[in-house]
Amino acid sequence: MARPVIERTPTGIPGLDELLGGGLPKGRTVTISGGPGTGKTTMGVQFLIKGIEAGENGLLVLMGEEARHVKENMLNFGWDLDRLQQEGKLTIIEFGPSKLSQTSISGLANLIRIASFGVKRIVIDSITTLEYQVKDPFERRLAIMYLFETLSGTGSTSLVVAEMSYASPLARKYEELEFLAHGNILLHVIPLREEHVLALQITKMRGIEHDRELHPYKITPQGIVVYPDQRVFYYPATYTPPA
Ligand SMILES: Nc1ncnc2c1ncn2[C@@H]1O[C@H](COP(=O)(O)OP(=O)(O)O)[C@@H](O)[C@H]1O
Ligand SMILES: [Mg+2]
Repeated sequence: MARPVIERTPTGIPGLDELLGGGLPKGRTVTISGGPGTGKTTMGVQFLIKGIEAGENGLLVLMGEEARHVKENMLNFGWDLDRLQQEGKLTIIEFGPSKLSQTSISGLANLIRIASFGVKRIVIDSITTLEYQVKDPFERRLAIMYLFETLSGTGSTSLVVAEMSYASPLARKYEELEFLAHGNILLHVIPLREEHVLALQITKMRGIEHDRELHPYKITPQGIVVYPDQRVFYYPATYTPPA
């Protein structure tokens, strides 16, 4: 019997699709977690831009950074978000502090359900603030499950950005969000001998075969580029690798 094949949504990020064996599982929700400045926003916007270039409209939900700043920053990569908005290819929803204080994860989910009409790719950047709002772990888990169910219901392929407070891949705890999402992409800053290297790792992608090693990536003037043929080897300070 032929195996069912999960359709893919190419991210359009050079190198990443190769690690994913073609792209993200279509219609699923994947988290991107990383520390500050690891390129989470750039990666999310790049995913939307590449979608628009392929005829797939996008929805960007900003919670944490002002839309006008994101637009200015993204112009550096040649991505004109204002123009795409005017052309009706990109929807941006911005949550400032006052709006955030009056909303919840389920409120966000309901808004996304309405705003996602005709959209194929959704990016939420980032979910962290709203996660703090739900103190009770059980309620928080239910809220995240409701959000993910809503994202899945839109039929879009979604990226949910999360702030990760640990730079090292070993000295971190797993986040609830990561357990509940279909897939996780981690962005690390790895201190090597004389430099800090950005490294990407796909730790989970349900239903598809994928690479799980640490690969270097760069934030270039054209956006994020991942190097699938190169690896980053990281050992904790106390560990002596075999000679
Ligand atoms: N044009 C550029 N070329 C290379 N690197 C850039 C460029 N613009 C920004 N960066 C790098 O990208 C980082 C911010 O990327 P961003 O996607 O906002 O990260 P995050 O959302 O994870 O905080 C900056 O700290 C800088 O190091
Ligand atoms: Mg950001």
